[in-house]
Amino acid sequence: MRILFVTSEAAPLIKTGGLADVSGALPAALREIGIDCRLLIPGYPIVMQKLESSLQLVAQFDNLAGAGAEPIAARLMLAQMPGAGTPIYVLDAPLAYARSGGPYQDSNGIDYYDNAQRFALLGQVAARLAGADSPLDWHPDLLHCNDWQTGLAPAYLRLAGNAIPTVMTVHNLAYQGIFPPVMLGELNLPLKCFSVEGVEYYGNLSFLKAGLYYANHITTVSPTYAHEIQQAPLGMGMQGLLTSRNQDLSGILNGIDVNEWNPAADPHLECEFSARAPAGKKHCKQKLQEELGLQPNADAPLFGMIARMAHQKGLDLVLAVADGIIDRGGQIALLGTGEKSIEAAVRALVARHPGRVSALIGYNEGLSHRIEAGSDIFLMPSLFEPCGLNQMYSLRYGSVPIVHATGGLRDTVEDGVTGFVFEHPTPHALWLAVERALDLYALKPAWKKLMITGMNRDFSWQKSALAYQSLYQGLLAGQV
Ligand code: ADP
Ligand code: GLC
Repeated sequence: MRILFVTSEAAPLIKTGGLADVSGALPAALREIGIDCRLLIPGYPIVMQKLESSLQLVAQFDNLAGAGAEPIAARLMLAQMPGAGTPIYVLDAPLAYARSGGPYQDSNGIDYYDNAQRFALLGQVAARLAGADSPLDWHPDLLHCNDWQTGLAPAYLRLAGNAIPTVMTVHNLAYQGIFPPVMLGELNLPLKCFSVEGVEYYGNLSFLKAGLYYANHITTVSPTYAHEIQQAPLGMGMQGLLTSRNQDLSGILNGIDVNEWNPAADPHLECEFSARAPAGKKHCKQKLQEELGLQPNADAPLFGMIARMAHQKGLDLVLAVADGIIDRGGQIALLGTGEKSIEAAVRALVARHPGRVSALIGYNEGLSHRIEAGSDIFLMPSLFEPCGLNQMYSLRYGSVPIVHATGGLRDTVEDGVTGFVFEHPTPHALWLAVERALDLYALKPAWKKLMITGMNRDFSWQKSALAYQSLYQGLLAGQV
């Protein structure tokens, strides 16, 4: 079975969030069970650089619809992912992707003005590689798209009359790729598809809606989120379409890369520990306190949080209970970057509690591992969370998670057994969960039992890969 997996980010090449972790690990897990899964990704400068030694030219396009009326040229390169060796097609189109900022925004956090064209280009090429006129010898049996950046691929493929099955995975329905309808022509979309039965979304054009409408099957990254998005508010305007397609919608829980996230052999740590030999975790905590300038205190319950600083992640709730945590003798270590107003509120919190609260505003892979390893408790009060990976990393690293009962958080953390789950996203409900955690933390044997139970949970990708395999098989047999 040959699968083309299209994505706008993939770890370890380029990452802004969990989509990259999934795109790095799932194709590799699929290959392990005998599926020939290959990636397609834009050739951002960092990607070209990291793959430089293995890039091979495999095709050239000279007539892709680009910005403005002029067609643009692009090269398609083939390389291997570092580590796993997954074959990866890289779309080298400097006009679209050679930018100095991130994959979607410039260094000031402003969306690129031509994101519609940049990601339509990715969609067009995906559809070409999946279609009958592909320039490659390798022909996929199925096209697997991820999030709005790839949403036009199923539309292009269907509109061109080609019919390999397509899967659209929603990692986050909050990002919908919405652009003005005047762009239809420029993006090579016929006027007829600008309708409710097509790419139209409340008078605009939505890349995600296109994917949800034209793909043969829709998946999302946890069973609970698959259910939640069929209603308001988490359907975010797409609930009508998702409900009407609920026979074609399923939730498959993400896994985690257990090699990358392994406290017994983690190159980012100066200590090692495991469920069988957890003692090294104390050393990680001490090192983390040193690194972050927190008071050296083995007994202070240390709360960690790593998140994009976006409304979704519930930072407001954390800010509301932070003083209470400090009053009860706790410490807090935050890592994240994103909305400037949230960053400013976090900085103010640190200024109020020097030596007790630390925040690194930025992106830091190594520190994210050290926070997971060194903290006792992990805060993840997301207002909504399609899957969430950090709570699974936390479980594995013995950092007991406190989570809001939503999406994948509900599906992965068991209240009182592996962590603390609260039902309503209010400061009061979070505070009650924090108090329960602190009370149990004081009872060392009970705490250890909770921690070790979480560390022993298996979230490896294998189970999810098998679920995708059976979905693909069903689609190819025309049975799903
Ligand atoms: P989302 O994809 O919504 O951001 P996930 O929990 O699925 O949430 O995945 C987030 C991923 O990004 C995790 O691997 C997390 O460790 C990482 N991450 C988020 N912010 C940072 C940061 N500032 N520095 C390092 N890693 C980060
Ligand atoms: C998104 C979601 C997150 C999920 C990740 C990977 O960014 O916000 O919950 O874990 O995608 O699927």
